Amino acid sequence: MTNAQKWLTAFLGIFLALFILGRITQKEETFSLPETYAEKTMQSNQELDAMSLIRQTGCVSCHGQNLEGTKIAPALTNIKDHWTRDGLINYLRNPSSYSGDERFKEYKIKYKNIVMPAYNNMDVKDLGKIADFLLEK
Ligand code: HEC
Repeated sequence: MTNAQKWLTAFLGIFLALFILGRITQKEETFSLPETYAEKTMQSNQELDAMSLIRQTGCVSCHGQNLEGTKIAPALTNIKDHWTRDGLINYLRNPSSYSGDERFKEYKIKYKNIVMPAYNNMDVKDLGKIADFLLEK
């Protein structure tokens, strides 16, 4: 090999290495960025969906703008201590069937003339969304 050939091989080698490196880093950028972006928007949409569902359905008019409780209905902030997901969905569909519980006997006295409406005409998927949201709070 002449000196010129050695230089040429070295030059080509470096060029190839840089080219491959460029390809690899480019791939990482184009694939990972949109994914995290999509995940983020999906997450915030889910939260927004549940809370706007709760607003739309009118839960806030009794339970408070932030579900903190009012004079006419209890707070919905710590209900994960009392409910499973299925139990809560069943409750929302038919609240009167739970009126025998100790907690509900107290509610009956405290919120005497207010009745928690039955949401059995609502899409179960939406109720599930609301239940997930309430159980995470
Ligand atoms: C008309 C007023 C009113 C509306 C509207 C209302 N609630 Fe209630 N809710 C109550 C009252 C009063 C209670 C107390 C229990 C009872 O009296 O049956 C209650 C109880 C609850 C409980 C049980 C709380 C616990 O400690 O376990 C949950 C969960 C609940 N409501 C969720 C909702 C959701 C979700 C919505 C909307 C889809 C909603 N409520 C709409 C009045 C209301």
